[in-house]
Amino acid sequence: MNFNIAVIAGDGIGPEIVREARKVLETIGIKFGHTFNYTDILMGGCSIDAYGVPLSDEALAIAKASDSVLLGAVGGNVGNSKWYDVAPNLRPEAGLLKIRKELELFANIRPAYLYDELKDACPLKNEIIGEGFDMVIMRELTGGLYFGERHTEKVDGVWKATDILTYDENEIRRIAIKAFEIAMKRNKRVISVDKANVLDSSRLWRKVVKEVSIDYPEVTLADMLVDNCAMQLVMNPGQFDVILTENMFGDILSDEASMVTGSIGMLSSASLGKTKLGLYEPSHGSAPDIAGKNIANPIATILSAAMMLRYSFDLDKEADAVEAAVKQVLKEDYRTGDIMSEGMKKVSTTQMGDLVAERV
Ligand code: IPM
Ligand code: MG
Repeated sequence: MNFNIAVIAGDGIGPEIVREARKVLETIGIKFGHTFNYTDILMGGCSIDAYGVPLSDEALAIAKASDSVLLGAVGGNVGNSKWYDVAPNLRPEAGLLKIRKELELFANIRPAYLYDELKDACPLKNEIIGEGFDMVIMRELTGGLYFGERHTEKVDGVWKATDILTYDENEIRRIAIKAFEIAMKRNKRVISVDKANVLDSSRLWRKVVKEVSIDYPEVTLADMLVDNCAMQLVMNPGQFDVILTENMFGDILSDEASMVTGSIGMLSSASLGKTKLGLYEPSHGSAPDIAGKNIANPIATILSAAMMLRYSFDLDKEADAVEAAVKQVLKEDYRTGDIMSEGMKKVSTTQMGDLVAERV
């Protein structure tokens, strides 16, 4: 089969990790008889430098016309990059928000699990790790604070900044349905995370999620307040199967969940909407401090490409092959610096890509 992939290498380590994911896709293409056609587009800081905007209309049109989008990472060091002190719609991150909104990618799936091979990298104590953990964060991606009205003004000589948090019931319902669908394929437990003791948007969230749950009698639903969830993630991560939450809470909790696995460089993500067109990117950022050194871990991007095979192209066997190859390489003790431990064999970004491609 033939697939058109828009590729956004982006900023920082983006180009290095995307190169390795493409390498692995090429091998899949040869082995299983598929052709992947790539169109490179710019987004983020590199697009600002080239065109003055974080995502051009031309680039967006290419993404929209493709079968899926593979993304490395965008942005520089927050606070001290040349792209920081500019209008909000001209920052690198604005490109990411725009593509999510324009492609209507409202469902962000972020798996966080503990690899047996990487138990040593997990910062939690053994008694907390227990049998290990394997959860998926289902984060709403096109609503809430990220897309509400925002402005800064001077009122009676005092600076005042406003960000508005809005959700309507349809936005909540469609992400809740996705979460229950995923739960049906997993351990059938959804924990919906909100701040219903304070926020109106959370009270509506709770009500709509409960309504949706009626259609999934096999799935158990529990509500959890977001502050409690932040605590439970480090106290008893094994209790989670699917975490369903709104945009901002999901942003924060997914970083926490990935860190407790000890391997943020390993975790992939998929952003999906109503169609098969999805956007696939590692859960981590652009790591400008290690860019260009050939030391970044490409596995999260490689596994994101595997999610692309599975969710956008319906190529389950091919996705399994990539995931198995990654496991195999870990079993053979190869590690990039971020997941290195004593006695393991340290490899570079390119070597890791080569190893996974060979095992495929
Ligand atoms: C993420 C990132 C983005 C977000 C930033 C870069 C805008 O942190 O994908 O989690 O907050 O959504
Ligand atoms: Mg984030």
